[in-house]
Amino acid sequence: MTTNLQLTADGKLKHFLTPEGLSAELLTQILDTAETFIDNTQSPRKIKSPQLLRDKTVVNLFFENSTRTRTTFELAAKNLGAEVINMNIATSATSKGESLLDTIRNLEAMFVDAFVVRHAVSGAAHFIAQQTAPHISVINAGDGQHAHPTQAMLDVFTIRQHKPDFSQLRVAIIGDILHSRVARSEIHALNILGAKEVRVIAPKTLLPAEIEALGVTVSHNLQDGLQDIDVVIMLRLQKERMTSALLPSESEYFSCFGLTEEKLKIAKPNAIVMHPGPINRGVEIDSKVADGKQSVILQQVSNGVAVRMAVMAMTMTDFSNH
Ligand code: CP
Repeated sequence: MTTNLQLTADGKLKHFLTPEGLSAELLTQILDTAETFIDNTQSPRKIKSPQLLRDKTVVNLFFENSTRTRTTFELAAKNLGAEVINMNIATSATSKGESLLDTIRNLEAMFVDAFVVRHAVSGAAHFIAQQTAPHISVINAGDGQHAHPTQAMLDVFTIRQHKPDFSQLRVAIIGDILHSRVARSEIHALNILGAKEVRVIAPKTLLPAEIEALGVTVSHNLQDGLQDIDVVIMLRLQKERMTSALLPSESEYFSCFGLTEEKLKIAKPNAIVMHPGPINRGVEIDSKVADGKQSVILQQVSNGVAVRMAVMAMTMTDFSNH
């Protein structure tokens, strides 16, 4: 999948479809820009509301369910002063058979400036970016098993708050890698930003073929794989994308790959625990870990607002002039 489509002729971010192929400088600019939107002078910290997208209209086009991504994109757009339209796909003309392209053409005719797209089909956001009018930006909010770039960036942002030196960072991504767009985007972003090691830990049935080609090390045993790890990222079993039985049972999966307090002790003592959500307690993670002192899961959600503000500001404005 080409990534040049994401950039303007002078190298600025026009669409955000995948971190794959983008430079460390550009990804760092997203992180640094997000940092400027957090008001550290207040306790608890607050998000600033610079009106960078005044007079712009953002359409949230979610063809799949979402709690965190859709809501934080809406908050982010509103913090930047944009008008936000949340398309209700269930009650839209999509349910009467209108094609994706016709839906896009009709929304374009309403003078919108950006589409935030979640779709079950890998490549859907890329397809819209290819087809849409030149002034419109497309931000991928998760396409099939392919990419979830803003989730990866908010995860990397959260990691950087706790472990700023990526050259010494060992990250383990654990669970259903096969169906995870989050894992793919995290692997790309962490490698681009120079992480020392990205390790995937999963049963063979939940790993894509030739995953090593993405620049990861592989373990099929959680206890072995957690050795020396700084960041533990747990993934949910994406049962909605499983077309055949890939596991004996959820209880057996939890006993082999579920993160408990005891297993977490194998990682470095100051390791942080992350999860993109939604979490399935007792399937991939024990409640004591999800709610424990090493968990930064809700911090990830909070960081989603500032990071999505950064991506919208950078794609929808000539941000260097601000
Ligand atoms: N992490 C994530 O994409 O969550 P939602 O499905 O709730 O948006």
